[in-house]
Amino acid sequence: MQISPSILAADFANLEAQLAAIGSADWAHVDVMDNHFVPNLTFGLPVVEALIKVSPIPIDCHLMIDDPDRWAPAYAEAGAQSVTFHVEAAAHPQQLARALRAAGARAGLALKPGTAWEPYAGLLPELDMVLVMTVEPGFGGQSFMADQMPKVRAVRDSVRRHGGEVWVQVDGGVSAETIEQCAEAGADVFVAGSAVYGADDAAAAIADLRALATRHTHA
Ligand code: DX5
Ligand code: ZN
Repeated sequence: MQISPSILAADFANLEAQLAAIGSADWAHVDVMDNHFVPNLTFGLPVVEALIKVSPIPIDCHLMIDDPDRWAPAYAEAGAQSVTFHVEAAAHPQQLARALRAAGARAGLALKPGTAWEPYAGLLPELDMVLVMTVEPGFGGQSFMADQMPKVRAVRDSVRRHGGEVWVQVDGGVSAETIEQCAEAGADVFVAGSAVYGADDAAAAIADLRALATRHTHA
């Protein structure tokens, strides 16, 4: 059970300190948005390179961008240990996942709430993680979409049938109130922005989330 706090909810004027505050987490989730794939703009490669240099934990890069075939491999080459692209935006997801792995990163494939998993299940051998979005990508602080849990179960079932180590990540509205149903459905990597950075004590929030997820592990 891994926790990946999203720095989208952090203080952007103090990112080094905000990364230090989540040093007890497994990953730092970094949301790259291009104002085209989603209607919001965050930061790109130069800022992510700077974060990689100072982060005490590995970087989990979530690319909400058009044309990831062109732009995603550079994040892996820069040293992001996990790079996730949206399948809705990728022209050649199989080649892209291979390029990410060749550059030394774990390859992740993300699904928007309206995107089904089944058409992509054949890509599993190329993947290290599948991200099931539990909000429409673009903004932090939105309400959790419980109607995505059947998709989490479907991905977990595919992974079990396929065998091997593919992680199932959920992102959006994950909190102490919603993390248990995600774990029960089969998620094992949990992104949380507001639930961690909105808490008085980020380390305590991470520990609480981890304990709740562990207690509700998918059988
Ligand atoms: C949304 C981002 C999320 C976001 C989650 O598009 O991908 O990572 O930061 O924020 P919370 O946990 O506040 O919903
Ligand atoms: Zn994200």
